Amino acid sequence: EHLALWGGRFSSGPSPELARLSKSTQFDWRLADDDIAGSRAHARALGRAGLLTADELQRMEAALDELQRRVDSGEFTPIEDDEDEATALERGLLEIAGDELGGKLRAGRSRNDQIATLIRMWMRRHARVVANQLLNLADALLVQAKEAGHTVMPGRTHMQHAQPVLLAHQLMAHVWPLLRDVERLRDWDKRVDASPYGSGALAGNTLGLEPVAVARELGFTNVTENSIDGTASRDLVAEFSFIMAMAGVDISRLSEEIIIWNTQEFGFVRLDDAYSTGSSIMPQKKNPDIAELARGKAGRLIGDLTGLLATLKGLPTAYARDLQEDKEAVFDQVDTLEVLLPAFTGMIRTMTFNTERLEQQAPTGFALATDIAEWLVKNGVPFRHAHELSGACVKAAESRGVELWDLTDDDFIEIFRGFVEPDVAVNVREVLSTEGSVAARAGKGGTAPNRVREQIMSAKTLIEQL
Ligand code: ARG
Repeated sequence: EHLALWGGRFSSGPSPELARLSKSTQFDWRLADDDIAGSRAHARALGRAGLLTADELQRMEAALDELQRRVDSGEFTPIEDDEDEATALERGLLEIAGDELGGKLRAGRSRNDQIATLIRMWMRRHARVVANQLLNLADALLVQAKEAGHTVMPGRTHMQHAQPVLLAHQLMAHVWPLLRDVERLRDWDKRVDASPYGSGALAGNTLGLEPVAVARELGFTNVTENSIDGTASRDLVAEFSFIMAMAGVDISRLSEEIIIWNTQEFGFVRLDDAYSTGSSIMPQKKNPDIAELARGKAGRLIGDLTGLLATLKGLPTAYARDLQEDKEAVFDQVDTLEVLLPAFTGMIRTMTFNTERLEQQAPTGFALATDIAEWLVKNGVPFRHAHELSGACVKAAESRGVELWDLTDDDFIEIFRGFVEPDVAVNVREVLSTEGSVAARAGKGGTAPNRVREQIMSAKTLIEQL
C-alpha cells in the first residue's frame, strides 16, 4: 500500500517514524474537494491530449464522482498509511476505478504542482468569506457611527485628552483600515489568479497537456508563467497570511479601545449581556472577553505569518518538503478569523454608548486649548505666540483647579494683553464649546459633523462596491 506512489526504486516502505513525521492528512484533508476538482480538470486534459479514450474519460469522471460522494458522506477518509490528501485520494480512486484506469490519472502531474494549485484555490475561496465578514464588521461600525449622530467625546493622543471629536469620527477611524484589508484581499486575488497545474514537479510536462483549460476549469484566468516559480514560490501564501495578520491587528486595536471604554473609570460603552461573560467567583463581574480574545488571537495570527516567513527564508527555489509547512499557518489564521469575526461583529452591533458621559468628558482636560490658539491666529496673533498665550490660559485654569471656560473675562484680557484688544479678548468664549470646536474642523477628513456625514456616505458606497 505505502509503495503505491514511488515503489519502483525502493526495497522497503517508510519506517514507522518517517511515516509519522511525513504524514499531513490530519490537516490537509480539507483540500480533498479541491484536489478532486483538479483531478477532473486533469482527466479532461489527458483526454484532449489523447492519453485517455473517450470511454476511459467517461469512466474516470464517473469514478471521480463516486470518490467525491464517498468523501462527502465520510465513507472515505484517510487511513494511517496515507501520507497526504493526494495519496489518500489516489488510493480511493484506485479502489473505485481499478489499478488499470485509476493508474492513468497521475500522468503529467506531480503533487508539487497539485498542492501549489490547491492551496491557491482554498485561499481564494476563504478570502471571499473573510472579506465578507470584514465588510459586516465595517457595516456594524458604520451603523453605530450613524446612530452616534453629533455625540462628542474626548479625542486622545498619548491616551491624554487632546481635542474633542465626534464619536462617529472615532468609530469610522476603525472602518477604513478594515476596508483596506478587504481591498488588499481583492488586489491579492489578481496576483493569485494563476494556476500552477501543469508545472509538474518543477520543469513542466512532456505530455502536451494544455494548462490553460485546466486553469479555467479551476477558476483561474491564467497559468503561472514559470513552472519552477509555480511550484516553489509561496509569496502569495505569505501575502495572504499578512492580510490575515493585519486584519487581526486592526481588530485588536479596536478591541483595546473597547476594553478601556468598558472600564468603570471610563464608562463610555456598555456591552450586551449576550456578548459578555461573567466570573465564576465574582458575581458582579461582566467581562469583555470577546475583545480580549480578539486581542489575544492577533498574537497567534502574527505568529502564523512570521513562522511562514521563517520557513521560506532559506529555501532554494524549487520544491522542497519544507513547503508543506505553509498550510497549517493559513488554515489556522482563517479558522481563527472565521470564528472570531461573527462574535466580534455581534458585540459591536449590540454595544451601547453612554452619550451623556462622553459629552461631559469631551471638553475636559483643557481639550479646547488648541481652539484658543487657533482663535488667536484668526485674530492676527502668530501661532508661536498664540500657542504660548493659550498655554498660559491652561496654566491659570490648572492652578485654580478649574476648566478653561471657568476663566473670567478679566483673565482673558490680562493673558492676551499686548496681542488682542480687551473688547475682542472676551470673544474667545465663542470657541470654548465642544460643538464649536468640532464644527470648526471642517476641512476634508475633519471631525465636523457634515464632514463625518460625507465620510459615512463614502464608506457606505465603498462597502457596497467591495
Ligand atoms: N504534501 C506535500 C505538500 O503539502 C506535497 C507532496 C509533495 N511531496 C514531495 N515529496 N514532493 O507540500
